[in-house]
Amino acid sequence: MSPVSVAYANLLSSTLGEGKGTDPARLEGDLATRFRDAHSQVEARIEKGEMGFVRLPGDEAMRRGVQEVADSFGQWFETLVVVGIGGSSLGARAVTDALLGPHWNEDSDEDREHYPRLHFMENPDPGSVSDLLARVDPRRTLFNIVSKSGSTAETMAQLLVVEHFLRERLEEEQVRGHFLFTTDPETGVLRRMAELRGIPTLAVPPAVGGRFSVLSPVGLLPAAVTGVDTAGLLRGAAEVESLCRNPVLKENPAGILATLLHAADVEEGRRIHVLMPYHDRLRSLALWFQQLWGESLGKARGVDGAPTETGPTPLPALGAVDQHSLLQLFMEGPPDKVILFLRVGGRDNPVAIPSLHGEEPALSYLGGHTLDGLLEAERRATAEALRRIGRPSAVVEVERLDARALGGLLMLFQMATVFAGALYGVDPLDQPGVEAGKTLTYGLLGRDGYDVPSLEPEDAGGYRFPLAAASEPSRNP
Ligand code: PA5
Repeated sequence: MSPVSVAYANLLSSTLGEGKGTDPARLEGDLATRFRDAHSQVEARIEKGEMGFVRLPGDEAMRRGVQEVADSFGQWFETLVVVGIGGSSLGARAVTDALLGPHWNEDSDEDREHYPRLHFMENPDPGSVSDLLARVDPRRTLFNIVSKSGSTAETMAQLLVVEHFLRERLEEEQVRGHFLFTTDPETGVLRRMAELRGIPTLAVPPAVGGRFSVLSPVGLLPAAVTGVDTAGLLRGAAEVESLCRNPVLKENPAGILATLLHAADVEEGRRIHVLMPYHDRLRSLALWFQQLWGESLGKARGVDGAPTETGPTPLPALGAVDQHSLLQLFMEGPPDKVILFLRVGGRDNPVAIPSLHGEEPALSYLGGHTLDGLLEAERRATAEALRRIGRPSAVVEVERLDARALGGLLMLFQMATVFAGALYGVDPLDQPGVEAGKTLTYGLLGRDGYDVPSLEPEDAGGYRFPLAAASEPSRNP
């Protein structure tokens, strides 16, 4: 049985009512044809080797290589710090948050079965960086520097800060033993440094881009070091990947998601796609999806080179917390959203709600239920309330939150993203808009080969409150 399922009745007009959602007959008509075309474009790119993420679940040699590195480091270090940003951290965080839970670093060594503690250094925020470095023991900490390009300023700056931190506290010859680099197999400064200094490395396969790298060494190493079942992760991904190679729309879960979300956007103006897990451990998965969907589909040019302004806006949310924050907007604000609920079927510890205070009606009805049951009732009620006013939603569901199910979810969303790219007519694998910002940053910080850009002052024309004194020149950074 598939590790993930997709219930999409609430995206269809048969459920939402006349004029809302997609006519189900189209799933075997024009949408089936539209998807078949998108599917064949994706297949052609897979065939050409451009979509390397599809091949990762079957790469047992890669997984075993990562596991060996993880095992060799795991016994020496009590803390792993992953230094990376964007696709170089969000996937690993999604996996480890889902499978280790929120209290991993506070758990005793016995409870962690002596696997290392795990931290992410993602944003070069000086407060976060210094706070973390002040808390780790440099003698027992491994820093995994993750950058496919080896040039991302945030990650390179943090590498330098970490190296300085280690040099001040360890013997010179010990420093390199506290680094592992995960980077391009051939190019970039990390690769060069590793070769010069004998630092161990893991390779990000060339045709695997940052936001599609969660099942490569980028996501697998932190998972393996902390004892996550990486074989299960890849098994679940492989199962879903094989379902997603099917050109028949109704038999392809990622195809269904991509096709109905695309139709909801371009035909009905439902351009905000909310991913709303009802499970705290999946909050990071929603953040990972936000990057995947947003960076892959938000494009100014189509694959034909013609200008476009394409891209649904992904919005992560958390049930039931955001029922008390965003639901009012989802129910009564502009009808421009589709809600994808993410549901886990069962939990090891559903937590019974005790039957106390039978005399208080506001409490007594809860007794005898479970907290898990309460969350599911909230989710069902929310979906139904949306349906009754013709607002679309769908449910992506896994039976249990284990490695196999998580691998399935990761593959489902990656495949849906590349199908959506084909449907929108954009390249889901590039990110020229991100590169533009990176180039300006390099120039501003004086990197060789990059012009110092002249920047418009942000208070140009006196548009600042309070107004700066007339004699005070506005400052460029
Ligand atoms: O998806 C992407 O390509 C980006 O989000 C990158 O992962 C991010 O910019 C970090 O790049 P790098 O891994 O080269 O440091």
